[in-house]
Amino acid sequence: MIKVSFAASRPEGAYALAIPLRSEDNVAERLPGLEAGARNLAVRAAEAQRFEREAGGVAEAFVEDGGQVRRLLLVGLGAQRDDPALYEKAGGALTARLLTSGETKLVVDLTGTDLRADEAARLAFGAAARSWRYDQYRTKLNRKQKPTLEEVVIVGAADSEWGSKAALLEGLDLTRALVTEPANIVYPESFVERARAAMDGLGVEFEVLDEKQMAALGMGALLGVGQGSVRPPRLLAMRWNGGKTGAAPVVFIGKGMTFDTGGISIKPALGMESMKWDMGGAGAVTGLMKAVATRKAKVNVVAVCALAENMPDGNAQRPGDVVTSMSGQTIEVINTDAEGRLVLADAMTWAQRQYKPEVMVDLATLTGAMVISLGHEYAGMFANDDALAGKLEAAGKASGDKLWRMPMNDEYNKIMDSQIADMKNSASREGGSITAACFLGRFVEEGVKWAHLDIAGMAWSDKAGSLYDKGATGYGVALLDRYLADNHEG
Ligand code: BES
Ligand code: MN
Ligand code: ZN
Repeated sequence: MIKVSFAASRPEGAYALAIPLRSEDNVAERLPGLEAGARNLAVRAAEAQRFEREAGGVAEAFVEDGGQVRRLLLVGLGAQRDDPALYEKAGGALTARLLTSGETKLVVDLTGTDLRADEAARLAFGAAARSWRYDQYRTKLNRKQKPTLEEVVIVGAADSEWGSKAALLEGLDLTRALVTEPANIVYPESFVERARAAMDGLGVEFEVLDEKQMAALGMGALLGVGQGSVRPPRLLAMRWNGGKTGAAPVVFIGKGMTFDTGGISIKPALGMESMKWDMGGAGAVTGLMKAVATRKAKVNVVAVCALAENMPDGNAQRPGDVVTSMSGQTIEVINTDAEGRLVLADAMTWAQRQYKPEVMVDLATLTGAMVISLGHEYAGMFANDDALAGKLEAAGKASGDKLWRMPMNDEYNKIMDSQIADMKNSASREGGSITAACFLGRFVEEGVKWAHLDIAGMAWSDKAGSLYDKGATGYGVALLDRYLADNHEG
């Protein structure tokens, strides 16, 4: 990811210069410090590229500036001022253009604009977030494929809001790396070690349960999923105590299926490799932890990761098996591919007994049906509390990680009743995301405000977006960071 800094004036030497423009701005008047000839050229170039200062639009020109040739980028901010995603998009558009362009430094000159400190920070955040790549295993990139852009300098704006965004970037970086890593690298035990290394020195408390400890606690649902793999499952809890001593923490729980073959109900080969990111929920809550601890948020937060690998081997659980969860409720495993809800069930019970939260939010790449319902624009939100749903939805709007509320009721819930046990883990495909949520709802304890976010369509993207390249999006980190900041801090 590129470095971000703030400066009072433009630096010396070589760099690409970017200037943001609103719809109503006149290009010629908004080019501070450029000579007349350069301004003329920029105006003509903008016209030639049909640049209308539309949000996220970019026009490019090479102009003479202080005796050297400089790449000038005009970036549009559009007509609307209050779209929170606007400034991030503009920053992202710039780095998307420049990442492999040969330029090493980008200077965004905000002198004379009306951007507030938070808007400038958002622009810088967007620029950095969009520059993220994971080239660890690409040993043969040629010169032109390699990123060249190393830093962005924001000129003419206060850096007072930058600290919290920089912390958020750290979290995003961690989430994306965890989600991108293949399952032979990131599996339950190595996930824990990665999280530990990433949280080093930040004051985050770790608790890790191995399979023996989980067995002693009666976590038959989680253990049943992990038992077909040679890589043992783990339950990871990370705690940040930034709030009042003794105040109940906000608990986040992430589905951490480091690989989901489907188990004995095995998935088809086509596209199965994508199930390496079936730990997107765990990745998100881990990145959130990093962000929250880095910015020393004044709130108590716990992130719990239910880590397992769903594999078919001689010891794997079978369709029809009945397992007993930590809550005491029994589950008939109709389909071993409906494993996320099984590991979450025990993680939820454990977290509620351990931390007595008022609010518990789980994130999970839980159902393919979610992707059918909402595609890749919104994650599905299920909640037992309207106020919590409203707050999460607002955080979704403000952060750009959008949420759409889905229904739950007794009729849907009844579908999960089993003939032989208290419930089954899978029913017909109709309303599959909703019945999955109802299943999870059976593990929510009295008085706990709970929301379930099905992020199956959001954790990964097959095409580049305004803030990410193809691949891991980091969905959820900005959302939860924002939710905490707006509702639980100060
Ligand atoms: N991890 C998958 C869901 C998923 C699918 C996430 C596609 C991201 C993209 C989950 O464990 C799963 O397999 N769900 C099943 C549930 C079914 C068997 C009831 C599904 O969605 O088909
Ligand atoms: Mn599955
Ligand atoms: Zn899964």
